[in-house]
Amino acid sequence: MAVLDAVELYRFFHIGDDETAALRGVSLSLDAGETVALVGPSGSGKSTLINCLTGLDEPDGGWVSINKERLTRRSETVRARLRARTFGIMLQSGNLFQHLTIEDNIMFQMQIAGKTDAKRVLSLLEAVGISHRGKSYPPTLSGGEIARAGLATVVAADPPILIADEPTAEVDAQTEELLFELFEHRKRTGLTTLLSTHSNALALHADRIIHIRDGRILDA
Ligand SMILES: Nc1ncnc2c1ncn2[C@@H]1O[C@H](COP(=O)(O)OP(=O)(O)O)[C@@H](O)[C@H]1O
Ligand SMILES: [Mg+2]
Repeated sequence: MAVLDAVELYRFFHIGDDETAALRGVSLSLDAGETVALVGPSGSGKSTLINCLTGLDEPDGGWVSINKERLTRRSETVRARLRARTFGIMLQSGNLFQHLTIEDNIMFQMQIAGKTDAKRVLSLLEAVGISHRGKSYPPTLSGGEIARAGLATVVAADPPILIADEPTAEVDAQTEELLFELFEHRKRTGLTTLLSTHSNALALHADRIIHIRDGRILDA
């Protein structure tokens, strides 16, 4: 059963007289429990699509629905509520609140989803190998530690749909391995994951690959 449907998405950007058609009629569906890789070169529209799928941005045409409930062209309040209930969103940076400790970042994510669980915070920190950093603030962490903390934060509430924008772009091999393990665990528990990448190696971990090029899906 589809947990997310996107139908004929268009998104245009204008800078001066120049128009970029970042999405040109993109349709896709995600089923419960599948891991899907969105593969395309830089500039192909991956981030634009992710922003539209999660309601962080509004498409200029087309619509997105979550479990048959429309997300597109709803008030920001409705979109925020749907987003909180549905998505874990892992962007290329800025996944942590700088003024909260790592533990509080994880806890806050769970609170938004109504799933507060202090024991899980500690076990997640251990799972990603940064137990000693729980009480630290993001600006004091190394790049690798920030990536691990971001990963723990985004999976904390077991969001029904996790969407990750190039999650392995800047991480070391060990963190990449962790990422795969966490995604595998999600699959086993029937949760959906969509990850964008320009690397075919990462895509091999997915059940299905969607290729995007110049704002169009190639083979869906
Ligand atoms: N805010 C924006 N303003 C203008 N052009 C943009 C904006 N965001 C993306 N684009 C353009 O849209 C196209 C798709 O970009 P993007 O979705 O970031 O691709 P990807 O994530 O695959 O690298 C690119 O040509 C990019 O320059
Ligand atoms: Mg991008």
